[in-house]
Amino acid sequence: MDPLVEAVLDAQDGADEEFVERAFREILRRPPDEEARGRALVKLSDGTLSRSTFLYELVTAPEAVRVRERDDAVALGLAARARGERLSWLQGPAGTDERVIELPWVLSRLAGEGRVLEVGYAFAEAPYLAGLLRAGVELVGVDLAERDVDGMERIVADVRSLPLPDGTVDQVLLVSTLEHVGADNSGYGLDSENDPASRVDALRELGRVLRSGGRLLVTVPLGEPGDHGWFRLEDVAGWNRLFSSAGLFVEEQEPYELLPEGWRAAPAFRADGVGYGDRGPAASAVLCTELSAGRLRRLATPDGLARTVRRRARPLRHRS
Ligand SMILES: C[S@@+](CC[C@H](N)C(=O)[O-])C[C@H]1O[C@@H](n2cnc3c(N)ncnc32)[C@H](O)[C@@H]1O
Repeated sequence: MDPLVEAVLDAQDGADEEFVERAFREILRRPPDEEARGRALVKLSDGTLSRSTFLYELVTAPEAVRVRERDDAVALGLAARARGERLSWLQGPAGTDERVIELPWVLSRLAGEGRVLEVGYAFAEAPYLAGLLRAGVELVGVDLAERDVDGMERIVADVRSLPLPDGTVDQVLLVSTLEHVGADNSGYGLDSENDPASRVDALRELGRVLRSGGRLLVTVPLGEPGDHGWFRLEDVAGWNRLFSSAGLFVEEQEPYELLPEGWRAAPAFRADGVGYGDRGPAASAVLCTELSAGRLRRLATPDGLARTVRRRARPLRHRS
């Protein structure tokens, strides 16, 4: 068979229904909505739309651009981890949410091996979870909500009270989750609460399950402190007070903010007047922190942190 003819035949293989379903899942990472599915099936069957044009339209949709940005963020983080490089001074495109910073920051610091607890995994991005699954760590997902993900242990539990013995976890990942603990989680199918103290309870509990020398990677939105119902926003000093109250030591920390030109590291970020959703689709700024349990707490003060950040500041590196 001529390979070019064979390639065209392959592309036409299978029923239209299955083709549309697979294309949506692979390109947009979601099943097609009823309207889009119906429209595509009618056009494919009456011949007013070819399969190639259907794929082209999906790939060039604005939604697909956002999916690719997440994919790139995950690839960047995993490639840095493979090189042994902890990413800092990251940059991300304008108009995107904070995951383009959080995911590479966290993934580049992912432990090489051991038991890694991903807290809040039930609504995490599929490429991020897939990246963790391929990373060769013993992955454990913890969430009050349930999600079926093969290849990882899953624990339905409240992060404030984990069914795990002391000191048995090598690393904890907490991506945009801490701000929701003790808040109105009805959007995730959970209860609505209003208990700001829960965030320190969660951090203490995570400190309890971490082994000596283990690390906790936390990313949280930054902005003018306030209660938004479904999450609570803090400024850098506010988050650091919580970390310190939970007996956690800041090993490394980077604030980032969304500027008109995109996401940029912002060592001197000031939260006054900066609200959630003011500058883009979600957070206007984000704080990425690596914490350890049980070390000296002296530096975990606003003044100590400022000194730590300055000492660690490095020249700007551009994302290509
Ligand atoms: C914004 S989502 C997390 C986003 C996700 N980590 C990511 O990477 O995109 C918040 C998550 O926290 C979970 N959650 C909220 N309160 C919790 C609690 N007390 N214990 C465990 N999980 C909780 C919710 O079910 C939800 O999955």
